[in-house]
Amino acid sequence: MVKIAPSLLSADFSRLKEELAEVEAAGADWIHVDVMDGHFVPNLTIGPLVVEAIRPHTRLPLDVHLMIEEPDRYIPAFAKSGADWITVHQEACPHLHRSVSLIAEQGVKAGVAINPATPVSLLEPILPYVDLVLVMTVNPGFGGQKLIPTALKKVEEVRRRLEDLGRTDVEIEVDGGIHPGNAGEAAALGTTVLVAGSAVFGAPDRGEAIAAIRSAAEA
Ligand code: DX5
Ligand code: ZN
Repeated sequence: MVKIAPSLLSADFSRLKEELAEVEAAGADWIHVDVMDGHFVPNLTIGPLVVEAIRPHTRLPLDVHLMIEEPDRYIPAFAKSGADWITVHQEACPHLHRSVSLIAEQGVKAGVAINPATPVSLLEPILPYVDLVLVMTVNPGFGGQKLIPTALKKVEEVRRRLEDLGRTDVEIEVDGGIHPGNAGEAAALGTTVLVAGSAVFGAPDRGEAIAAIRSAAEA
């Protein structure tokens, strides 16, 4: 069964507690938290203090997506704040194995993300060490963008490479421009976690929005 992870980036930041309760009741599986530093991506969002503040208000796993340079400086703080998953970008980590190991040392599940223009082959050396691969289907920085079809297709290669390693337990997440119209293709290619920001928080009824994505993914 595919998991659905609403991205808080498109939530009402003045009512995060209520927004969390609403998507949890609406059947969300994880909460996706987008952390941006204004350097790796052209936008600034939230830090560990906000993760710590929302942690008591949901039982769902917090899936923290670090779109930041020098993530090693902040990984311990995000782990302490209550992140269940921490994902770093391949493009931001010159010592990727060190960053992934640092996440694992905190007792947190480790993920690696790639931008739309980054080939899957660059992940080959790190695949034995990660719990999640995040395939970005938009250029990161903003919610509400249109999915890039060639980026989505990379999910199939990620799945094949993981299968070749016998690592069928690794989550494959897609992030960016996901809606009921493309969730089916994403799932068919091998996606196990669908991030959806505007398609969930932009909808008047979050329950209906999550159900529509889920039924498209499971069709
Ligand atoms: C993009 C973020 C995404 C974003 C997804 O930089 O990593 O998680 O919030 O939003 P939608 O689903 O609206 O594309
Ligand atoms: Zn994200």
